Amino acid sequence: MNKQTEQRLPGALDVDFIRAQYPVFNTPETASWAMFENAGGSYAPRQVIDRLQHFCSWTKVQPYGRFESSIQAGKAMDAGYQAMANLLNCDEDELTLGPSTSLNFYVLAQAVRPQLKPGDEIVLTNQDHEANIGCWRRLEEFGVVIREWRIDPQTGELSLKDLDRLIGQRTRLVCFTLCSNIVGTMNDCALICEKAHQAGALAVGDGVSFAPHQVLDVNTSGLDLYLFSTYKTFGPHVGVMWGRRSVLDTLQPQGHYFNSELPHYRFNPAGPQHAEIAALAGIGEYIQAVDKHHFESPEPDAHTRAARVFDLFAAHETIQANRILSAIKSIPGARIIGQDQARTGQRAATIALTIDGVRSGDAVSQLIQRKIGVRNGHFYALRCLEGLSIDDPKDGIIRISLVHYNSEEEVSRLVNALEDLFPHCRRTV
Ligand SMILES: Cc1ncc(COP(=O)(O)O)c(C=O)c1O
Repeated sequence: MNKQTEQRLPGALDVDFIRAQYPVFNTPETASWAMFENAGGSYAPRQVIDRLQHFCSWTKVQPYGRFESSIQAGKAMDAGYQAMANLLNCDEDELTLGPSTSLNFYVLAQAVRPQLKPGDEIVLTNQDHEANIGCWRRLEEFGVVIREWRIDPQTGELSLKDLDRLIGQRTRLVCFTLCSNIVGTMNDCALICEKAHQAGALAVGDGVSFAPHQVLDVNTSGLDLYLFSTYKTFGPHVGVMWGRRSVLDTLQPQGHYFNSELPHYRFNPAGPQHAEIAALAGIGEYIQAVDKHHFESPEPDAHTRAARVFDLFAAHETIQANRILSAIKSIPGARIIGQDQARTGQRAATIALTIDGVRSGDAVSQLIQRKIGVRNGHFYALRCLEGLSIDDPKDGIIRISLVHYNSEEEVSRLVNALEDLFPHCRRTV
């Protein structure tokens, strides 16, 4: 058992309660690991696991048939779609739930392609994960022109002034990340969307590194299309794609021809993953349990409920991220990618760093020996690392990424390990 002893301030996240929801923290072998590779994939709470297990145990048949287990399977899947619609504050028929965000982006690019003429332009960043780059670059062979919105080589951040210079009369799409999986900065989504729309272009947002930290209301976000992955947001391995209905209706369906009118199927050539989609309802149940534990009166609206629960998550993450950032700042030769201070809504707790004279892979190996789960590399954001002039992108950066279930005690373990491994590190916490 990894019981915490931390004191909780009124109104703060009860991390003991949170961790009690996760079987992984209540099993001695796994609980002994401090997991800081959450941007790669998060653990799932019991509510999600129970839904998955229930589906696999009792209703693992072709759903939406007329016999009982099939009817129940369909209902369980509907609950999964509804949970994602609640999270995003959208209608469930605006959702495509595919195997991953990379595949959803690929399908989306194919669905947009018939609208594009040679000479039409797409703005892409070099801050993004390749999922939101490569699929669009493939359209160059049809005469589409890519305009690259490049990061500052020192800070890794994107400048809105640079975007102004890239958007023009031929811009059809502006594709960007709400939060990079390397830099951690939360980009100004509303302003980017406004600039895209002024040019008559669609705004496409990658929320994979954003969604574990903040809830997005897609209707007020300004976005036309928004994608994220639930396996990094406390759920099973599913890629969620939301599209504004009026936009989806203009895209070319990519599923079987006879399914081109079916909302969940028309942009999903892979077909839905029945059990995983059913398990998504567990994310909603988890949020509800956290809400009930922390607030006196229940919030009836599921989206508002999720937003206030994620506010609690974010406040906790910001405090813990700042402890890590301040420890890193005292390591001689350490370079923090992005802002060196976490601020809720501005910088996520996804921290990338390099240390002069230390191979990232070696630093990671040493941390792993202490049962601290981290990774190094380029994390499929190779262009971002190249833009930052990281010499050996394969060795890449050390990434320390936390989410709300990381405890104060785990962060202390990490900070102490950094101090031990890099002896000039001053005690800062
Ligand atoms: C920011 C970002 N975008 C997109 C992806 C791709 O998501 P998926 O693994 O679901 O294809 C990742 C995965 O790491 C990511 O971090």
